[in-house]
Amino acid sequence: MPQTVRTLPGQIPVAGHATRLAWDPLGFLERQRECDPVVGLRLVGRDCYLVTDAEAALRVLVVQQECFDKGGPFMDAARLLVGNGVITCNAADHRMQRPVMKPAFHRSRVAGYADVMRQCVLEATAPWTAGQVFDVSAATYRMAALVVSRTLVASPAGKQAADVMAAALPQLLRGLLPRMLIPAAWVHRLPTRANRRFDRARARLDAAITEVIAQYRAGSGDEQDLLSRIMAGDEESGHRPDDSEVRDQIMSVLAAGVETTASLLAWTFHILARSPDVERRLWAELDASLGGRPVTFDDLTALPYTKRLLTEVLRLYPPTWLLSRVAVKRTDVCGFAVPQGADVIISPYALQRNPDVFPDPAGFDPDRWLPERLTSRQRQSFLAFGAGRRRCMGEFFGMTQATLALATVAGDWQLRTTGPGPLRPLPRFLLTPAGQHLQLHPRVPGEQG
Ligand code: HEM
Repeated sequence: MPQTVRTLPGQIPVAGHATRLAWDPLGFLERQRECDPVVGLRLVGRDCYLVTDAEAALRVLVVQQECFDKGGPFMDAARLLVGNGVITCNAADHRMQRPVMKPAFHRSRVAGYADVMRQCVLEATAPWTAGQVFDVSAATYRMAALVVSRTLVASPAGKQAADVMAAALPQLLRGLLPRMLIPAAWVHRLPTRANRRFDRARARLDAAITEVIAQYRAGSGDEQDLLSRIMAGDEESGHRPDDSEVRDQIMSVLAAGVETTASLLAWTFHILARSPDVERRLWAELDASLGGRPVTFDDLTALPYTKRLLTEVLRLYPPTWLLSRVAVKRTDVCGFAVPQGADVIISPYALQRNPDVFPDPAGFDPDRWLPERLTSRQRQSFLAFGAGRRRCMGEFFGMTQATLALATVAGDWQLRTTGPGPLRPLPRFLLTPAGQHLQLHPRVPGEQG
């Protein structure tokens, strides 16, 4: 007989737990690890089920995935931006959409993008000069946006759309967080300054994407890229997507592919600037494997420390710090009854900092990912790319891009903080670093700084 899910204490009238969650989302989620594997939350009249341990999370995402579909507050907020694209669509639409998208992310395709990815990093870092203080998030965003607009949406309008998105995204991400934590549409339709800013940013982005579609329909698409493939439709069913379907897919690729990798790189640069030991080991590996020459796709397997470093960054600071689903039927999760229609929330951030699974969870230790140290519980608790059928399609794409960018930047530059102060995560729609700036010092490969 499944147990009834207990609702967490500390609700206040109307808001439920929303204000506590909005006040300190990361602390709130981490504190619930001591509770049952599934606990109840109330967000402005909406009942949610928070999953607090990795086994229960895997049941929702993998083992019992047929019982859960995309939905819940995080996905509903994402839909405001990406509509019914591949990230947010339900299982039935996903069966049609995934085969169209998947080939663009195959290893062989990604290998073919590697040179372009490295060129984009060089282009984004070309203006850098010795002693310059630079805005880390803006720089990594530029790298990631260039890559997507040269590989997946490779037309001039694709580049413009990525630029518009770069300008509009901070507003949009700031606006999505309250929409996620307060799932009451009327609140976000009030004519407040914040709501108007959000609507304006979305309108700017929509206009840029309409332009991309017009260019591709007029025949100036790249023919080989992901967007051309999406627009060609599905041969088997004869389905050709209309403009609104295409719009949702472009938004999905831009939203999923740019900000996530940009955020991973921004965290990585901040950590390097604060961790001389990590920096020394990274340089030692790059110098030994590359000897000062540019990194290529074939080098990636010879950079295991670099990969462990990026994985450890994703453990501590998963850009997608919340996942959400909706139960399509009544389901028992680890002995707890989740009713049909319930929203379910999982936090990779909280699970990946569980001290019972990751000793010294706040410590930055890339070597915990050495095969001889890694436990199956740790592997299962690492959900930075999600799990199951809806696991990230762009994982290899993103990790390849991040490795090439890290090797290229760390080969030429030493990054330094511009003042004291801890590295603080800023939970927006994605998790971004609060500190913005670092200083650049040229580095000669072979010299240990
Ligand atoms: C390294 C950075 C990245 C991280 C941490 C990341 C994380 C994630 C996560 C957690 C999901 C699953 C969401 C859920 O279960 O609700 C996801 C899905 C997805 N990601 Fe990524 N992602 C990254 C990079 C990318 C890139 C570079 C692309 C494309 C260019 C991409 C495209 C996608 C797509 C298309 C999906 C939807 C998959 C599906 O539902 O079939 N991601 N990502």
